[in-house]
Amino acid sequence: MTGKTVLVTGAAGFLGSNLTERLLAEGHRVVGLDNLSMGHLSNIAGAMENPNFEFVQADVTDSKTFQQLSDDIEVLVHLAAFKIPRYGKAIDTLKINYYGTENALDFGKDRNIKCVLASTSDVYGRNPAVPFSEASTDSLIGNSKAPRWSYAVSKLFDEHLALAYQDAYGFPVTLLRFFGSYGPRQPLSWWGGPPPVFINAVLNDETIPIHGDGQQTRSFTYVSDTVDGMYQSIIRDEANGEILNIGSQEEVTIIELAKRVKLATGTPGELNYELVPYESFSKNKYEDVMRRVPDTSLSQKLLGTSAKVSLDEGLKKTIAWQKQAVADRGFGIN
Ligand SMILES: NC(=O)c1ccc[n+]([C@@H]2O[C@H](COP(=O)([O-])OP(=O)(O)OC[C@H]3O[C@@H](n4cnc5c(N)ncnc54)[C@H](O)[C@@H]3O)[C@@H](O)[C@H]2O)c1
Repeated sequence: MTGKTVLVTGAAGFLGSNLTERLLAEGHRVVGLDNLSMGHLSNIAGAMENPNFEFVQADVTDSKTFQQLSDDIEVLVHLAAFKIPRYGKAIDTLKINYYGTENALDFGKDRNIKCVLASTSDVYGRNPAVPFSEASTDSLIGNSKAPRWSYAVSKLFDEHLALAYQDAYGFPVTLLRFFGSYGPRQPLSWWGGPPPVFINAVLNDETIPIHGDGQQTRSFTYVSDTVDGMYQSIIRDEANGEILNIGSQEEVTIIELAKRVKLATGTPGELNYELVPYESFSKNKYEDVMRRVPDTSLSQKLLGTSAKVSLDEGLKKTIAWQKQAVADRGFGIN
């Protein structure tokens, strides 16, 4: 695929801006759409200089948004979404992820183009069958009274909706289940998961807050590896109609992540952390996922990609970026 025009929703966000950079570097034209609710124009400052980039500030939940877009779009990558509502706002997660995806798929249907959609490792829920395989039949989603599951449910619904559109209207869809990506342009709060928060705490000689007992595991994926998976999914027909895990298999506990962050910053002194009970930030019981690691054999086979950047290497690069980002923004970590 050379010189395609790709619509990226959520282009000013973490993954969207990194994907945009890669697409432009590979010679494609990108129409980047974002309402800037969570993303930053600074993330796409480089893209803005490129004549092959067009930015549209608009809301994906408004169906009129898609009607104004140029006729030459050949692929849609839908990343705009709201993530886990750790501090409330499950209504945003559910409505944005429902209406935004419906509008995106209607656009894909009207234009009869390939649609690549962001899903999440969270859809596996507390499935004990680790590593999680796309062929696994069970997702173990928790109690509806725990708002954190609204994210997994919204993305599971999006997956079903996309496959139903493909079935009904015949255009190809690809669903990507991302596993905890981190790296340059990551949100600098909990919106970006533990890495930015831990890095910031260590750099400021503050206590790292660790939720629960810190024994829950994750497989953090450096952003260039996540982008590689996205890029290959866009260009390869083999990805059409598939659900694919995109992530690293390097599984670490959250306490181990804190230790690695401390080491990678090279700061003196002991690791300083405190265990924060889930009840302290969630009035309903926060149900965490205790182990999360992907089976990546399908994405390796169909996309020819696998995560290459080790956690230690990725953290060093991320820390260098984060120091600069915090200095440039001149304020805290939001
Ligand atoms: N980063 C990860 O590790 C990860 C893991 C699993 C799934 N995902 C999924 O990948 C996608 C991208 O995630 P991210 O980490 O880049 O998140 P992000 O919050 O950095 O980016 C999302 C972007 O979407 C935009 N947006 C939100 N609501 C919008 C709306 N109504 N209209 C237009 N734009 C809107 C935001 O302003 C933001 O720039 C999301 O769908 C997310 O659920 C990400």
